[in-house]
Amino acid sequence: MLRRLHHTQPESFEFTPANLAWAEGQISKYPEGRQASAVIPLLWRAQEQEGWISRAAIEVIAKMLDMAQIRVLEVTSFYFMFQMQPVGSVANFQICGTTSCMICGAEDLVAVCKEKIAPKPHMLSEDGKFSWEEVECLGACTNAPMAQIGKDFYEDLTAERFSEIIDELAAGQVPVPGPQNGRYAAEPLSGLTSLTEFESGRAQYNASAQLAVDLGDTVKRIDGTEVPLLTPWLTAKSEEPKATKKPAAKKAAPKKAAASAPKAEPTEDAGDVAEAAPETLTAARDGGADDLKKLKGVGPKLEGVLNELGFFHFDQVAAWGPAEIAWVDARLSFKGRIERDGWVEQAKQLAEGGETAFSKKVDKGGVY
Ligand code: FES
Repeated sequence: MLRRLHHTQPESFEFTPANLAWAEGQISKYPEGRQASAVIPLLWRAQEQEGWISRAAIEVIAKMLDMAQIRVLEVTSFYFMFQMQPVGSVANFQICGTTSCMICGAEDLVAVCKEKIAPKPHMLSEDGKFSWEEVECLGACTNAPMAQIGKDFYEDLTAERFSEIIDELAAGQVPVPGPQNGRYAAEPLSGLTSLTEFESGRAQYNASAQLAVDLGDTVKRIDGTEVPLLTPWLTAKSEEPKATKKPAAKKAAPKKAAASAPKAEPTEDAGDVAEAAPETLTAARDGGADDLKKLKGVGPKLEGVLNELGFFHFDQVAAWGPAEIAWVDARLSFKGRIERDGWVEQAKQLAEGGETAFSKKVDKGGVY
């Protein structure tokens, strides 16, 4: 199948704030210069949020990772797990068509898809709620035929049961994943012949199905509020001794109106470095603001946040010490990025009229 950008594309893409924080946490796992390693997690989260990967999402992720857009497109088009066209707003059905499932009735499931959803794979149903595709073995062969719907497996399917499942999803219900023929897991259809003592006291559903029920995100679009990404390595980094504690200066208010500050609030666990409010401005000086996007790691959105906090010029950033960094850090959605990306060092060079490798790229229009 030819995998290319879809002919219809959204105007823009933006991670939800929680997904953005999650994505930046992922990026922080990798050493400086190796941020591109986070491309698959970021693409996956974009898909979990939107259902598919648009050109705009590729552009945003390329910028976040300082990668050429074509490189991100290459990754997207190489892995079939990434959808390159819009999928159903409720669910995309992935029907396993490999040997076990094919022998056990996968073609009947495909026939249901053609009848109830769309005549061809990767087409949307008329109401836009559903789409379907045939995929290779999903590793649940003992429960063939099966389909993945959203995040979960529906196994031991028949055409009739599969048809009902589509109807239930259309009605806003989420059927319980797992075997659909009364089997608990992957035991013989005739029942257990050994280890029968474990039948009593077990959970209502097998482990995978029980977890799916507990999480309840089978067909949910992920906005990042579900399971936060923990980044203890960032806390550990900020705990390294860098400045004398000045408790009195902690949580000093910015000079600019607090109402315009981003959502992130300074927290007690932000690290051991005491915060001190840096010098801020209410507007750029005569001559206009510097292009803060020349600092690696600062995109248009973050530049806006910095402006709201009262930072418009490289020399302001260049003047930050550990305490000021802690103050700004506490007001960004992702802590640790200032030091990780070396904003202060970059800003010093730029404030003196110099260039950095990244600012040269920006000047040449090589950063999107
Ligand atoms: S053949 Fe369908 S899950 Fe393996």
